[in-house]
Amino acid sequence: MSRDFVDLSDAGGSVLAAMIDDAIDRKAARKDWPKGKPDADAPLAGHVLAMIFEKNSTRTRVSFDMAMRQLGGSALILESGSTQLGRGETVADTARVLSRMVDAIMIRTDDHAKIEELARHADVPVINGLTDLSHPCQIVADLLTIVESGFSLPGLQLAWLGDGNNVVNSLIEAAGLMKFTVRIGGPLGYEPDAGFVERARAAGGEVIFTQDPVEAVRGAQVVVTDTWVSMGQVGGDVHVAAMQPYQVNPALMSAAAEDAMFLHCLPAHRGEEVTDDVIDGPQSAAWDEAENRIHAQKSVLLWALGKL
Ligand code: CP
Ligand code: NVA
Repeated sequence: MSRDFVDLSDAGGSVLAAMIDDAIDRKAARKDWPKGKPDADAPLAGHVLAMIFEKNSTRTRVSFDMAMRQLGGSALILESGSTQLGRGETVADTARVLSRMVDAIMIRTDDHAKIEELARHADVPVINGLTDLSHPCQIVADLLTIVESGFSLPGLQLAWLGDGNNVVNSLIEAAGLMKFTVRIGGPLGYEPDAGFVERARAAGGEVIFTQDPVEAVRGAQVVVTDTWVSMGQVGGDVHVAAMQPYQVNPALMSAAAEDAMFLHCLPAHRGEEVTDDVIDGPQSAAWDEAENRIHAQKSVLLWALGKL
């Protein structure tokens, strides 16, 4: 049985903590090295990751490629539209063939059921690089960014503003696994997935909803937002209008804890969900967060391939 990383719960809380520790150690050990130079132990030498993209990506694409290089392996990109998958070859047959050719598969796709099917039929680990439902790799990077800034995850007070999308679903899952609080400020009708909320609460995470953005951020140590309209989502004027009160701007940040950290998975829509002065300001860790995609995914890859 291969270790799939379709969602954070596939790894669980203690593995997640170990992933963060390992990422911190590996990041420190290669400080100031050229970015493509392999880590001293090159633990994935000879290993190849296939990356399937059915949606656009900058960070996920580059960070997985660089992660594999730093671990001593390599990656190849399959743009779905130029593969037979894009012409209707089944997900199951694609899984069987790629399992004979590469050591692991990362996929960015729309329907979550597609990655579950891929994982069911692949003999090698399958990693979720974002679906309409979740974005677990992003959240490993976010947790790494939070922990390396000196915060402890259990008991952390985190606020999410805006749309109840794939990123917040994985954040909620993390709250259950690592026992922290997510206060969600957003309009009625744009809530995150109810299943993620229920499971996180059952696991000991706190998930609180409010329509009042100030109440959402009050006392929060970390403030997080994302695009109001995700890839493939039908947005429209009504959706965007409903999100306006949840813009993260200096006035809203001033209601959070002093020196609260601001995170955004990027790409940002400046002037919509966040203003320039917040994302470019001293409380923003968005660029560390982006870099941490590499370090976090190295841990995910190592775990998936049985090396962590
Ligand atoms: N945050 C993130 O996943 O970015 P990309 O869409 O550029 O991969
Ligand atoms: N919620 C966003 C995340 C992009 C990385 C989307 O799905 O488009």
